[in-house]
Amino acid sequence: MAKVTIDGHTIEVPDGTTILEAARKIGGAIVPPAMCFYSKLKTSGGYCRTCIVKVSKGSDKDPRPMPKPVPSCRQTIMDGMVVENITSPEIMEARAGVVEFLLINHPLDCPVCDQAGECHLQDLGYEHGKAGTRYEFKRRTFPVMDIGDNIKLHMNRCILCYRCVKVADQLCPGRVHGVIGRGDVAEISTYIQNAVDNEMSGNMIDVCPVGALTDKTFRFKSRVWFTKPVNAHRDCDKCCGKVTLWESGNEVLRVTACKDTYGEVEDVADGKPGWICNTCRFDKKNITDWTIEGPRKIDRHSVISANHYLEQKALKMDIKMQKLLGEKAHN
Ligand code: SF4
Ligand code: SF4
Ligand code: FES
Repeated sequence: MAKVTIDGHTIEVPDGTTILEAARKIGGAIVPPAMCFYSKLKTSGGYCRTCIVKVSKGSDKDPRPMPKPVPSCRQTIMDGMVVENITSPEIMEARAGVVEFLLINHPLDCPVCDQAGECHLQDLGYEHGKAGTRYEFKRRTFPVMDIGDNIKLHMNRCILCYRCVKVADQLCPGRVHGVIGRGDVAEISTYIQNAVDNEMSGNMIDVCPVGALTDKTFRFKSRVWFTKPVNAHRDCDKCCGKVTLWESGNEVLRVTACKDTYGEVEDVADGKPGWICNTCRFDKKNITDWTIEGPRKIDRHSVISANHYLEQKALKMDIKMQKLLGEKAHN
């Protein structure tokens, strides 16, 4: 076991735990945002840099600080480590820079984007974004593409987090989808436009942190805040059959996996992630297909959570205050 202190909160966690996982155990505003890490997908993380933190003390044995911000999703803790996230003005500034980079090529699509209202990039933009851009070049653009019968790809909105690639790799045998090209020509592709028709491919939509992969059966049907999420299940021989139904009146507009506070698929009874199959997701759109369990509580990354943006506003004030205090101490 090892002790780590994150923004003044100390916790003891098993050796090998990452800073991000330790922060999630503490919970609340000190948890760094994560756009590419997804605990249920092996080798995810390390791509986006939104989760950076400052390690102001390496460990009890070697108390030297780490010279640069570190990605908390990859850095494991050492006994006695001291970490700063929202209490570090430099980290807040560096994260704002990361967000600026993420938005360089990102379109202002929120009013027409299905992810709006539950988008992690929208949250980051709200917390750290600036009204203008310093980018003077032409944004890269791609045509909207069909990838398979049920998924639409808006490559313009993709932040190349690789989560969908990990789903394809780890859940869909014989995958036909990945990232081609590198640098500013990197893009998600199904190679020669092959259909992503694997029975578990719809999970790519659930893991996509932005509105790049959208569910064709839900596109433009409703804004997410007009829907009512409920927990439901059915007997399914392909997946766990446990889902969240997003209803409007008696109509089921969308079916997703059940997700936790961090937008990740919850574990089901046998301790395995509750990925769902395409039959449950795309073909079971009648209330009578499901046994309804009750309303689902949605928090953190969604406008559906009551007072979410009031909490965000309070966090923003907190960050500003920390920055002022930091500057004062510096002077
Ligand atoms: S992905 Fe998020 S930030 Fe981008 S347009 Fe859609 S809602 Fe807006
Ligand atoms: S399509 Fe979505 S999940 Fe896939 S790399 Fe792009 S942002 Fe990530
Ligand atoms: S979440 Fe850590 S680098 Fe993306």
